[in-house]
Amino acid sequence: MRVQVVDHPLVAHKVSVLRDKNTPSPVFRQLTDELVTLLAYEATREVRTTQIEVQTPVATTTGTAFAKPTPLVVPILRAGLGMLEGMTRLVPTAEVGFLGMARNDTTLDIVTYAERLPDDLTGRQVFVLDPMLATGGTLVESIKFLFERGASDVTCICLIAAPEGLDRLEEIYGDDSRVHLVLGALDEKLDENAYIVPGLGDAGDRLYGLAH
Ligand code: URA
Repeated sequence: MRVQVVDHPLVAHKVSVLRDKNTPSPVFRQLTDELVTLLAYEATREVRTTQIEVQTPVATTTGTAFAKPTPLVVPILRAGLGMLEGMTRLVPTAEVGFLGMARNDTTLDIVTYAERLPDDLTGRQVFVLDPMLATGGTLVESIKFLFERGASDVTCICLIAAPEGLDRLEEIYGDDSRVHLVLGALDEKLDENAYIVPGLGDAGDRLYGLAH
């Protein structure tokens, strides 16, 4: 498993504004969108491409196009939805599938409550969007699910991660070169309610302003 914490002043600045509890939902959504495009730039470094012929006004040259099968982008509902547009703007030909996973706040177990994905993901490069890598439970289950359907590799893009979640993923996918994590920040720890510290609170609530 490869882990990359994107070290860039624009990323650090946007994460800082997201953390601020006084940042209102519309600004939070806008910044999430901008941050995802910066993280997606790194996350797609190894997206499969093919050569194409391009006719410029001056000459014929060799260009680059996304290879088939097209990448699949999977936001984890609900908070991952806030990252979708920023990602598809960079990879407009990508298909989008949905996974709804939620943590039971008492048992901390992960429950899959919605799934809309192609049955066969053989050979597909998959990009999972989940803003907060906390205990790692959601990502472990999502990655397992995607590999069971045949995905060739899975890149997870998260705005903020906790060391506990990273450790859990390392335990399971540490030796698996098909798994790649791209993070905006790696925080200190989880609190007793499995919130990331310092984190930014509940990402879904910050994005959409509703209780779940
Ligand atoms: N999910 C969130 O939205 N925030 C956290 O801090 C942890 C999980």
